[in-house]
Formats: sequence, structure tokens, C-alpha cells
Amino acid sequence: MKIYIDGKHYEKEEARISVFDHGLLYGDGVFEGIRAYNGRVFRLAEHVERLYASAKGILLDCPLTPKEMEEAILETLRLNRLRDAYIRVVLTRGMGDLGLDMRKCKKATLVIIADTIELYPPSFYEKGLELITAHIRRTPHECLSPNIKSLNYLNNILAKNTAVRAGAQEAILLNLAGYVAECAGDNIFFLKDRRVWTPPVWAGILEGITRRTAIDLVREKLKLPVQEDPFTLFQLYGAEEVFVTGTGAEILGAVKIDGRIIGNGKPGPFTQRLTALYRELTRATGTPIYDEKPVASNR
Ligand SMILES: Cc1ncc(COP(=O)(O)O)c(C=O)c1O
Repeated sequence: MKIYIDGKHYEKEEARISVFDHGLLYGDGVFEGIRAYNGRVFRLAEHVERLYASAKGILLDCPLTPKEMEEAILETLRLNRLRDAYIRVVLTRGMGDLGLDMRKCKKATLVIIADTIELYPPSFYEKGLELITAHIRRTPHECLSPNIKSLNYLNNILAKNTAVRAGAQEAILLNLAGYVAECAGDNIFFLKDRRVWTPPVWAGILEGITRRTAIDLVREKLKLPVQEDPFTLFQLYGAEEVFVTGTGAEILGAVKIDGRIIGNGKPGPFTQRLTALYRELTRATGTPIYDEKPVASNR
């Protein structure tokens, strides 16, 4: 496996960054998780745009232009001869002496890993996920914008751990006002009375790229309204269907929340249709990795 670090590719065993990198020392950096399907990178420009927005949020300059970043990602996929992949782009503050002052780091470190991972086994798409509400709340905008996809993921990791230790797969995080924000690594939606709900960006969520795609698919293909409004756990428990969205999870039904069965305890027909529509889109659109006949992204 060839890994990109600061303009060069290294074998996995040789791919190293300094222990003085502030990404490691302080979680000072940002990242993206991107997927390639069938020889195309899904929503590449959107992910790169979010990476630069996150970097701007923490006053971090990227050594590449967005176009060069896209090319570096594509090149890493080509070198690894991948057609289906999970791509991790990590941009850190770089190497510097100990201390929080960002001026200690003269140059950002950029790492691109292209690998194959399967996040949820196929059986979860048939039987659905169990979710548990975490005891800790989502980091609020007042402290660190959840819209910055930063290397500080402990809030999410601790929440996820609550769920996993209870035998569930994902955790729900509430915001400080007690409304549903999102899951540890996914956004959340529910269906009730022919209307789809998802928390608004200002409720304290990462604005997921899959979330945006799901909203568009619901409105354009399934012809239902999507309401971006805050809601309570009680509303979620009473939903007809619940699903989560994320680059890794794609669109995945949730069938049990804090011990309450959702709908009939199986992913509902609406979620199943949406999952299928999303799958079609991921396999038919995106930026070609190799020199093949291009198919336009529907953006
Ligand atoms: C906290 C959080 N929320 C939501 C998402 C889903 O975002 P996306 O659909 O862009 O993968 C992720 C995954 O990146 C995440 O880490």
C-alpha cells in the first residue's frame, strides 16, 4: 500500500510522521473520509471543499490548492490500483516544538491513505442498527464548531463507546439544549406522517455530505418534504422509520433506540428505497479515477 505524505508516496511500513507533529500532540488538524465506488470518487469536490472549510476554521493553510488536492487523492488511488476504496485525508498543523502556539509549526503535514474498509457488515442493512443515547452531549458551537471535522474526536469516540459497551452500534448525541444533534459518526433522520426530519446545522452537527445527498434524494426522487428542525428523543422514539447517514454507513436504518422498537423493528420501506437510490448514485456518479468515459456528477 502506498501512502501519500507531503508530496511523496511511501510504502505503509515507511509511512511515518514526526512525534512532534501537532496533529498527534494536540489533535491540531482536520480530516476527511471519502469513498470511491466502481472507479469513481463520490462527491470529491464537496469533500475537498469541506476539508478547506475545516482548515480555515482552525486557521490552517493547506500546501495544495483544492484542485491539486483532488489530483493527489486520485493519484494515490491510481498508485494503489483501487476502484472501491475508503480515503482518509489528514491535514495537521505540522511539526513544531511543544506548546500550544500554532506559530511553532511552520508547515502543515498532509497525509492521504487509500484503503479498503467495510464499516457495517451487509447484515445490518437487512436487520438495522440499534442506537443508544450517549450520556455526554455533542460539543457545542460555543466551544468548538462541530462543523469543523477536526482531529479532536474524543467527544464522538466516548459517545460511541457508550453505545458499543451497551451492545448497540451507534450513539445518539444530544446538544446542550437537549435536542437530538447527530450520531457519533453519522447524521440522523426520521420519517413520520409523510415528512422527513433531520436536525438543522445550527443544532450542533457536522454537516454531512451524505446528509445533503439524502435530503436531495428525498425531495427530488421520493417527493417528500424534509424539515431541518430540532426534535426531541421522544419524537424519535415515535417515528415510523429512523435512519442514519454517513460516508461509511451510507444510508442505514435504525430499528431500536434506547430499548424502544422503531416501526416494526425492521428497516422500513422508505429507508430501503433511499438506501437503494443512494447506492445507485454512488455507483453511477463521481470523479473518474482512471481514464474512462466520464459520467457527470449530479451536483
Ligand atoms: C460527527 C459526524 N457526523 C456526521 C458524519 C457524516 O458525514 P458525511 O456524510 O460527510 O460522511 C460524520 C462522518 O464523517 C461524522 O464524523
